[in-house]
Amino acid sequence: MTRARRHVRRAPPRKVATTRRRRVVAARAHGKVNLDLRVLGSRPDGYHELRTVFQSIALHDMVTAQEKAGPFVLKCRTPGVPLDDRNLVWRAAAALWRALGRAGDPADTVVTIEKAIPMQAGLGGGSADAAAALQVLGRLWGGAPLSLLREVAAGVGSDAPFFLSGGTALGLGRGEEVYPLVDLPRHWIVLVRPPFGVSTVEAYSWYDEDRAAGVREPRIDVQILPVPWPSRAAQMINDLEAPIARHHPEIDQMRTALRRAGALAAAMSGSGSAVFGLFQKRADALAAVERLSGSGWRVLLTESLDRGDYARRSRPMLRRRAA
Ligand code: C5P
Repeated sequence: MTRARRHVRRAPPRKVATTRRRRVVAARAHGKVNLDLRVLGSRPDGYHELRTVFQSIALHDMVTAQEKAGPFVLKCRTPGVPLDDRNLVWRAAAALWRALGRAGDPADTVVTIEKAIPMQAGLGGGSADAAAALQVLGRLWGGAPLSLLREVAAGVGSDAPFFLSGGTALGLGRGEEVYPLVDLPRHWIVLVRPPFGVSTVEAYSWYDEDRAAGVREPRIDVQILPVPWPSRAAQMINDLEAPIARHHPEIDQMRTALRRAGALAAAMSGSGSAVFGLFQKRADALAAVERLSGSGWRVLLTESLDRGDYARRSRPMLRRRAA
C-alpha cells in the first residue's frame, strides 16, 4: 500500500505527448523481364499496340516514403537519376495527390529510391519504382483503393499497372491492360547488361524506321519454353530486338553468349538493353554467371517470382521513427 502510493507519487511525467513519431512506409520495387513482346501495330495516340508476357523478378529497388514538413522531396544516391518531374516516381506522387482530391503540389513527404535494377535496360525499374511509390504514398496519405492506384499507374507509364500485381501476366494495349497468366514455374535468370542503355522512345523509333524501310524480321530461333507450363504465349520473341540489334550488334552477341553458357532460352527484355537467359538449376545459372563475367558486361543472377511471392515481398511495410 505504502509502496504503491510512493510509486504513484514518483511517476515521471508522461512522454507520449512530447515525443513525435514520424511515419515511414517502405516497399520493394521488383523488376521484370518480358518473356515475349509482339508489336501488333501503331496507334492513333502515337503508342504501339502490344501483346507481351511480363515476368516479375527478385531483383528490386527500395522505395521509402516518410512524413516531413515542407515541399515534396525525391532522393536517390545513384548518379543519373532525375530528382524532379522527369522521374516517374515524382509524376506518380503528383498524380496520386490530385486523384486523392488534394489541392496544389504534393507536400510534407520525402521519397527515397535505392536503386539496384540497372536503368535503361528494359527491366522496368522506373515503372516499378513508380508503382511502389503509389503503394507507399497511398498508405502514408490515408489509404487509396487498388482500383485508383491502377488508374493512376496507367497514366504514369505503360508498364506501371503490371507492377501492382506482378507474377506472370499478359499485357495488352500499350501494355497497361494486365491479365494474370498461370505463373511460370520458378526459373533462375541471368541478366546481362551492356555498357550502353536504350531509351524506350529510341527503341520504338528504331522499330518504326525498320517498318517504314520495309525490313521484315527473320523469325530466328523460336524457343518454346522447355517446361511443362500451360501457356504457349511466351516464345521468347521480342519484336524490338532486331531493330535495336541493328544499332547495337552486341545484343545478338549477348544472346548467343547466354545460349552457349547453357541458358534454356534467351532474349532481350522490353526495349533493352538487357538480355536475359532462363535456367532451371541454380548451379547452371551460377556457372553461366562465372563464364560471362569478364566479358565487359554487367552480369546479375536473379530468379522469377510468382504472384504470391510477389505480393508477399512487395507489400508496403510501416515503421515509425522518432522525429
Ligand atoms: O508509356 P511510357 O511513358 O512508358 O512510354 C514511353 C515511350 O515509349 C512512349 O512515349 C512511346 O514513344 C513508346 N511506347 C510506345 N508504345 C508502347 C509503349 C511505349 O510507342 N506500347
